[in-house]
Amino acid sequence: MRHFLALLDLTSAEIHNLLDKARALKADLIRGRRPALLPNRVLGLIFEKPSLRTRVSFEAAMGQLGGSSVFLSSTDGAIGQREPVADFARVLSQLCDAVVLRVFRHRTIEEFAEHSSVPVINGLSDYNHPCQALGDLLTIQEAFGSLEGRTLVFVGDGNNVARSLVVACARAGMRFILAAPEAYRFDESFLSTCRTAFPGHLPVQESDPARAVSEADIVYTDVWTSMGQEAETAKRLRDFKGFEVNESLMARAPSHARFMHCLPAHRGEEVSAGVMEGKASLVFPQAGNRMHAQKALLCWLLADQIAKS
Ligand code: CP
Ligand code: NVA
Repeated sequence: MRHFLALLDLTSAEIHNLLDKARALKADLIRGRRPALLPNRVLGLIFEKPSLRTRVSFEAAMGQLGGSSVFLSSTDGAIGQREPVADFARVLSQLCDAVVLRVFRHRTIEEFAEHSSVPVINGLSDYNHPCQALGDLLTIQEAFGSLEGRTLVFVGDGNNVARSLVVACARAGMRFILAAPEAYRFDESFLSTCRTAFPGHLPVQESDPARAVSEADIVYTDVWTSMGQEAETAKRLRDFKGFEVNESLMARAPSHARFMHCLPAHRGEEVSAGVMEGKASLVFPQAGNRMHAQKALLCWLLADQIAKS
């Protein structure tokens, strides 16, 4: 049995297989076909933080594949508060066929997975957001026809989304550049993980966003203050001054460069309204692709179980 806690757990070939399956399932849906590949399967979702895309894309995916889902919000899903994480995992994994968790502390997902008898999927932690990066590879593939050799420039905080994109790019043979103020670059522990896992595809870190985007095929950004960091909002607004992806920054990128954002976006902070709505923007197809990528992921994680039934 496999879990999906990080893209690092998957090989390049496994990621490419998921993208192939996602493209096929998307084409099916466009043709009006919704094959019941996960009949009667139940997906549990336990979310400690708010969500639009991750929650709805997983729930819609299960519905379209012939299964169903059960959502536990922070009131019911306060993992580890009403009962220990290990108890939560041992109960839920008898009732659900797979579980998605969105948590504050990454360790909570790891602990849950250690005690779960069904596949566990990381729906965002403070450390990473692998489902986002998987959907993003699908979007980049659609926009450019291929992944290898492309350059993704992430302008902003070296956060959970950025970390997963570093791994996604390495696995896909893409270059990753982070343009961030010094204090918001990747920490030594993450860089050490990268050096061990993919020494040939280390992220480049830059302080000047204009210089960084001059090499971009994709300019990507995310909020400066992630969920759980709200107390730092005012400081972050000051520290990230000059890092907004706006029309003048996009003008420094090659003319073919596209814009991506995991959403939700704060217009007037990390991105201007004009770039969000502009011709280079991929943000809405990007959000939609979350479902196709996660359908492929669910089918892969549950393949053994389906084969036995
Ligand atoms: N991008 C993303 O994960 O969105 P949600 O927080 O709405 O799920
Ligand atoms: N970095 C953001 C991503 C939201 C999808 C957060 O963690 O809040």
